[in-house]
Amino acid sequence: MAEITIDGEPSSFSCAAGDTLLQGGLRAGLGMPYECSVGACGSCKFELLSGAVETLWNEAPGLSPRDIKKGRRLACQSKALGDCLIKTHLADSSKPFFIPTKHTVRLQQVANVTHDMRQFSFAGAGAAEFLPGQYALLSLPGVPGVRAYSLSNIANPDGTWEFIVRRVPGGRGTTCLFEQIVPGDEIVLDGPYGLAHARPEIPRDVVCLAGGSGLAPMLSIARGLSAATAWTGNVHFFYGARTAADCCSEPLLQALPAFGSRLFSHTIVSDPDGKLPWDGPVGYVHDLALRTLDKEPASYEYYMAGPPAMIQAVIDTLCVEHAVPPQQIHFDRFF
Ligand SMILES: Cc1cc2nc3c(=O)[nH]c(=O)nc-3n(C[C@H](O)[C@H](O)[C@H](O)COP(=O)(O)OP(=O)(O)OC[C@H]3O[C@@H](n4cnc5c(N)ncnc54)[C@H](O)[C@@H]3O)c2cc1C
Ligand code: FES
Repeated sequence: MAEITIDGEPSSFSCAAGDTLLQGGLRAGLGMPYECSVGACGSCKFELLSGAVETLWNEAPGLSPRDIKKGRRLACQSKALGDCLIKTHLADSSKPFFIPTKHTVRLQQVANVTHDMRQFSFAGAGAAEFLPGQYALLSLPGVPGVRAYSLSNIANPDGTWEFIVRRVPGGRGTTCLFEQIVPGDEIVLDGPYGLAHARPEIPRDVVCLAGGSGLAPMLSIARGLSAATAWTGNVHFFYGARTAADCCSEPLLQALPAFGSRLFSHTIVSDPDGKLPWDGPVGYVHDLALRTLDKEPASYEYYMAGPPAMIQAVIDTLCVEHAVPPQQIHFDRFF
């Protein structure tokens, strides 16, 4: 255990030997700043004022050459080698609702969602506790670091954790999931993490924008909001697929009781290749949303997940062109 003191804050925390500073801080219930947990976004930057840390991934893209020159580090890629004094800015909005915990889980079932996306169901002991839209970090055999995957189901007492993963050609984590592990195998799952979770306390109608494997957290949010008794709004679900063969959201949403009454599904294809017939809309997911929604864009709450370029395009369109307040937009970038 190392004792981590945060300069200028009343809080300090004990960090277990296997944990990064980010994991240690969140496990202590602190509002550590973060987004991806995997070294890519740069949100967890801190300064080491005294003590020593081990850097897990030296090439992590979350630090620019300027950050490195200024001595900044990533809390999600730093393990303490002893007691440390660090400088970071805690935020109440980052405080975990459920404290992230490590679980040993067993792969139960694998099902094809499309030609390159599969659903993986894991079972663990005890309840699976998370908010719709959150993710977990999976430690996969032979894969350096951890991989972030969003939960596609909702919290349940049975201990079921479900993910929808798109295979990345040459990717180490997805190759392990698609080719190596089989039902019955155990892995370590650490979670929940993530701040782009459903907020049923906000009464506004919801727009979910999902690109590719961004389907998983949006499905979880649609499931969570349609099951929430105190939330009575509508969910407008927009799925952006590359080709007709990648379309997969509709049958999953149709299975939800709110489908057609409070949950409305729309799909758009960006690059119809003619291999399968497609007579639906062509273009990007946010264009379809803006063409379809019948109220002012600023009257909705937005959740979205997908590649960083998609997220940036949506933020630019919503905030700059349609004056949607940034606090109404919640997103996870899938690095
Ligand atoms: C918050 C979040 C949620 C996500 N949810 C989903 C989801 O629901 N479904 C889905 O299909 N994808 C999701 N992703 C993407 C997923 O985490 C992987 O990036 C993707 O599956 C490719 O992984 P790979 O190991 O196959 O590819 P690789 O190219 O081997 O690795 C890609 C990622 O792993 C990390 N990484 C690479 N090398 C190292 C290293 N040496 N040490 C530490 N980390 C390293 C990097 O962050 C990199 O982005 C999510 C990503 C984030 C950030
Ligand atoms: S949270 Fe550490 S780089 Fe994203």
